[in-house]
Amino acid sequence: MAISRRDARLASPEFSSDDKVTVHFINRDGDRLTAEGKVGESLLDVVINKNLDIDGFGACEGTLACSTCHLIFEDHVFEQLDPATDEEMDMLDLAYGLTETSRLGCQICLTKKMSDMTVRVPEAVADAREAIDMGKKV
Ligand code: FES
Repeated sequence: MAISRRDARLASPEFSSDDKVTVHFINRDGDRLTAEGKVGESLLDVVINKNLDIDGFGACEGTLACSTCHLIFEDHVFEQLDPATDEEMDMLDLAYGLTETSRLGCQICLTKKMSDMTVRVPEAVADAREAIDMGKKV
């Protein structure tokens, strides 16, 4: 079967360069990290793929079980995000330093509108799985 011109364009590596999104992270210690991700990747994917040194980030690998991927968004970006699911809200409740513009990085996928956004990583991390474990011991 012949490949259409459109399919060839979609398959070409140049096409994907349009899908790059630059994201800045303010790390726990205040350092700024900048990385590029692709539209559709989660912020957890960006941290992992670009090997960003963010202490304890993404401990449950995006399975909504830890809240270590807690990020704080700028107001104008936060307003454009899809609403959080009940599962994400439950995990956020266990996150350290929750704010009005907090979300979980493993649940937020990049869009072009997020280009050059800055997200803040809270100063400390709370792993919800440990809180649950500790709760069980008491
Ligand atoms: S990586 Fe664990 S909840 Fe996002």
